[in-house]
Amino acid sequence: MIVDGKDKLVPMATEESSVVAAVCNAAKQCRNTGGFYTYTSEPIMIGQIQLINVLNPMITKQIILENEEDIKSICNEVDPLLVKLGGGFRGMEVKVLDNGYEYNVIVHILVNTRDAMGANAVNSMVEALSPVLEKWTDTKANMRILSNLADKRLSMARATWNTDEIGGEEVRDAMLSAFRFADSDPYRAATHNKGIMNGISAVILATGNDTRAIEAGAHAYACRTGRYRSLSSWSVDKDGNLCGSLELPMAVGLIGGATKVHPTAQQNLEILNIESADELARITCAVGLAQNFAAMKALVTTGIQKGHMSLHAKNIVAMAGATTDEIDKVTELLIQGGKIRIDVAEEILASLRNTSM
Ligand code: MEV
Repeated sequence: MIVDGKDKLVPMATEESSVVAAVCNAAKQCRNTGGFYTYTSEPIMIGQIQLINVLNPMITKQIILENEEDIKSICNEVDPLLVKLGGGFRGMEVKVLDNGYEYNVIVHILVNTRDAMGANAVNSMVEALSPVLEKWTDTKANMRILSNLADKRLSMARATWNTDEIGGEEVRDAMLSAFRFADSDPYRAATHNKGIMNGISAVILATGNDTRAIEAGAHAYACRTGRYRSLSSWSVDKDGNLCGSLELPMAVGLIGGATKVHPTAQQNLEILNIESADELARITCAVGLAQNFAAMKALVTTGIQKGHMSLHAKNIVAMAGATTDEIDKVTELLIQGGKIRIDVAEEILASLRNTSM
């Protein structure tokens, strides 16, 4: 796919082969309009501390706010290397939370984690800070952990598909209607966003990043208006072409975790040919948008099963007992017949073996 003017080969790891095919198709169909254009914010992660046993929440809040400079030093002392690389403490938010049972004071520390996903850095910081906050405010720090709703670390991708290229106005308008369905109905939105995550999680896994963190952040972000909605948005430009955009939290890293040590993740990063987590976030977001385009297009035209089952046919043929030499021939005949079922694969296999005897 073309991302920000560069041709990118993107490794993906998924059990659903049609996801890879779908992304390839979507990327091919927008090459003539320049491919995908992307954006990422600063890599700011949020660490949360829950203070309980609070006597006066407003006084507790104020004491914490008064001490921001010391809080900054405590956090930065935990990870001097991160600070040296240009990251570290960037600010904080303090809120009073009435959870219906008691008042808590919730402290968010905002940390620029540079090329790391940042869980280790942030968790170490909130753990170091907690006893100090307890002492200053005479409260108890109950929970001290990173938030996966990384809504200060957002990535965006956009692309335009020429209406003629995608099959005309009827297809375009059907896709727009599919988007509006997803954006207004959570049952559809869950599946629509699952499709987006099909692409995203595959890149995240291939690069040794934390798929669950990205999934959690994405779905929580999809609820940010108070209703679960589409993560992508679709419209028509002034020339009548289909435009899509996608925005979601993208807490990915190139250092730390499995990314740095797992040989496959390392190899995949080499294939991607990137130098920063920022680039990985951008490309991953573009893949999510491509996947969403392909799923919507398939769903409003041929349906999802045709492409899906053709790709799945090989698995079915293997399950029917075909040997390595037989798989390609049986798969071809199975797809030709249009009934991608194990009983049909067994019949084809048996008749092929009979004729070659
Ligand atoms: C299947 O893995 C993903 C889709 O259901 C996504 C969608 O419905 O948009 C095809």
